[in-house]
Amino acid sequence: MWGIDEGADGPDLYRYLVTELDKLGLVYLHVMHLGNELLIDDIRKRWSTALVVNRPGRPRESIGTDLSSGFADIEAYGQMVLANPDFIARLQANVPMTPADRNTFFGGGEVGYIDYPALEQNPTTA
Ligand SMILES: Cc1cc2nc3c(=O)[nH]c(=O)nc-3n(C[C@H](O)[C@H](O)[C@H](O)COP(=O)(O)O)c2cc1C
Repeated sequence: MWGIDEGADGPDLYRYLVTELDKLGLVYLHVMHLGNELLIDDIRKRWSTALVVNRPGRPRESIGTDLSSGFADIEAYGQMVLANPDFIARLQANVPMTPADRNTFFGGGEVGYIDYPALEQNPTTA
């Protein structure tokens, strides 16, 4: 589980929180969205400026769906960008992404952070 468990009141708590935060005129709100589609829809309706939607584990084929549906102004990505230094080029070329190795996420060193290959370094990954 990510973060804290707000319990049954969680969705209404976020509705209230987002409504109040919106009054401050902040530039953007970044939400980690774990699948309550009614809630993200309500957050979208309550938030006036840019909304960044982070869906942990979002598969490649879902890239852009929150933009096209209007839920997000920006989609956030973690693992795919970490493991693919040429993330944009791979999307444009429609070639596979290198999967991220979770074993190196919290290792404390540079392995798994700066050593994933770009396509030109390892064309066999394409
Ligand atoms: C190396 C790494 C470390 C992360 N550390 C945390 C963390 O400490 N706390 C947290 O809530 N999420 C953490 N995340 C999760 C990111 O917020 C997650 O990547 C984000 O939800 C986007 O999902 P995606 O990586 O599937 O695109 C981490 C992700 C990565 C790749």
